[in-house]
Amino acid sequence: MSNGRWRGMGAALLLLAGGAAAAVPAARAQAPAAAESNVLLEGQQRFRPLWSARGLVAAQEPLASAAGAAILRQGGNAVDGAVATAFALAVTLPQAGNLGGGGFLLLWLPGSSPARQRGCLAEAPGGSPASGPELAIGGGTAVAVNFRETAPAAATATMFLGPDGQVDRARATRSLLSTAVPGSVAGLALAQRCYGRLPLQTVMAPAIRLAEQGFPVSRELSDSLAAATPRLQADPTSRRQFLPPPPPGTTLRQPELAVTLGRIAAEGERGFYRGPVADALVTFMERGGGLITRADLRAYRARLVAPLQGRFRGHPLLTMPPPGGGLTLLQILGILEPFDLAASGLNAAASLHLMAEAMNLAYRDRNALLGDPEQVAVPVARLLSPAYLAALRRRIDSRRHTPALALEAASGREGTNTTHLSVADRRGGLVALTTTLNFPYGNGITVPGLGFLLNNEMDDFTARAGIANAFGLRQGEANAIAPGRRPLSSMAPTLLFRPDGRPWIATGSPGGSRIITTVLQVLLNRVVHGLNLASAVASPRIHSQLWPDRIELEQGFSPDSRRLLEAMGHSVRQVPAMGAANSVEVLEAGGSLGAVDPRRAEGPAVAE
Ligand code: DON
Repeated sequence: MSNGRWRGMGAALLLLAGGAAAAVPAARAQAPAAAESNVLLEGQQRFRPLWSARGLVAAQEPLASAAGAAILRQGGNAVDGAVATAFALAVTLPQAGNLGGGGFLLLWLPGSSPARQRGCLAEAPGGSPASGPELAIGGGTAVAVNFRETAPAAATATMFLGPDGQVDRARATRSLLSTAVPGSVAGLALAQRCYGRLPLQTVMAPAIRLAEQGFPVSRELSDSLAAATPRLQADPTSRRQFLPPPPPGTTLRQPELAVTLGRIAAEGERGFYRGPVADALVTFMERGGGLITRADLRAYRARLVAPLQGRFRGHPLLTMPPPGGGLTLLQILGILEPFDLAASGLNAAASLHLMAEAMNLAYRDRNALLGDPEQVAVPVARLLSPAYLAALRRRIDSRRHTPALALEAASGREGTNTTHLSVADRRGGLVALTTTLNFPYGNGITVPGLGFLLNNEMDDFTARAGIANAFGLRQGEANAIAPGRRPLSSMAPTLLFRPDGRPWIATGSPGGSRIITTVLQVLLNRVVHGLNLASAVASPRIHSQLWPDRIELEQGFSPDSRRLLEAMGHSVRQVPAMGAANSVEVLEAGGSLGAVDPRRAEGPAVAE
């Protein structure tokens, strides 16, 4: 295809982005200057990211992105923008945005941190005693927020086993027992209190408005509610709130959720973990056989933790430590680093083979060794040591797949049950935030009077060693259920820096066990293959997780590559789209780019 035709395509996409800007009037008044267009067209561009001089939000649902962009415009930083977007997603993307779930957030802000002055670092575990959880990098401060849900105090290792010793899947995923103590409100409030610039009430105002006044239902939401109808039907409050699925364009109002949001805005996390919201949640648990008590809610703490540090091809990288998915991501990157994947080629069988073998080796360790580091000894340093990674690398036969049985040591379905957003502010601040209910609409149960859905995150624990969970992961004792413990997660919000330490990319994804490999491929596509951000996000992806012993390929790989992989001993299966890696990138020349993953986007990124 000639250059000329590509340019024409770029122009068409620019028009598309310009058109979408109409939804947020102040947003994209500034068209990219000619020089910036060249930046956008740099590399092997096929797809076009959105450009902004003043920051932008890349999230799955555009009304929520617009909420975050409005907060940036009011002088908020990336943290304010991300928290505003996340609360808005709890309204406009009920399948994944949430108050009743949990997640992880990674941030980088320029300059010195306000957190100590605000009294946020006293209790924080992790990091060095001198600095606590914060890392100084690139003339700014980075930190991670762990707001993963915790098992209630009354939870036991065998709580999902039936009398026959088999895992009771319905109990583990659809009952109130499947709900772990929610972390989202604590995590978002902590991030905002310690690192935001604006009052929480200001940041939450758009979410409250969306819940109170309602918003037009998108086709995606209508379809997603239709798909989840059997589960939502089983719960009277979910049925009243969401069914029958409103047709696209109808207004969905959520007055009970608006009241709950209003309490949080007025009182911070106390408005959720104590008082009327806590009382109503606990009463519901008591009546319905759930385990969460007042004491569980009062004891819940989101944590500021030190990001896990790595380096790839000279780029410092920060990602989520266990119970998050970053360690596995760093292992795969570490195994792959010396291979010349650029020479073997993007999407070429030789590259895909090496990637799949590296994935399998890292998932083997994940299954066997990873758990909540507050309760289980996780050998982080050993698993990331160059010597150990070299030993893993030596196990790869560049011409032949090593079967899972030979390596020893999992895939299931995936829904839009988790969501990732990335924000860049005008000062170069970055946030990567992934949040989840586990399944779409969690366990399908809405708390009466409070208007929010409950997670079924207890299924991310090991219900029984070696038996696959919903994502096909066959996990071990290190991830057994125990009181107060956080279940192992694949969520891996990640920040990548330029070699000199300046911040560059914020990324992450939903996708259950495929999260880690999705983030991996965004990074490889951008750093190794030189794709621009939008192309790096849109490019077709593969996944392998040891068990089941096969490579999953999205549509878009050639039959030739497939045949070559099969000839190397791989079993290959084409699967539906994996992940939704909404990402942003800070430009050297100033300004930032945003790319919403076209796989699940309900709309484009939104510029401040
Ligand atoms: O934390 C985890 O690993 C899972 N609960 C995430 C679930 C998920 O990403 C499903 N989304 N598409």
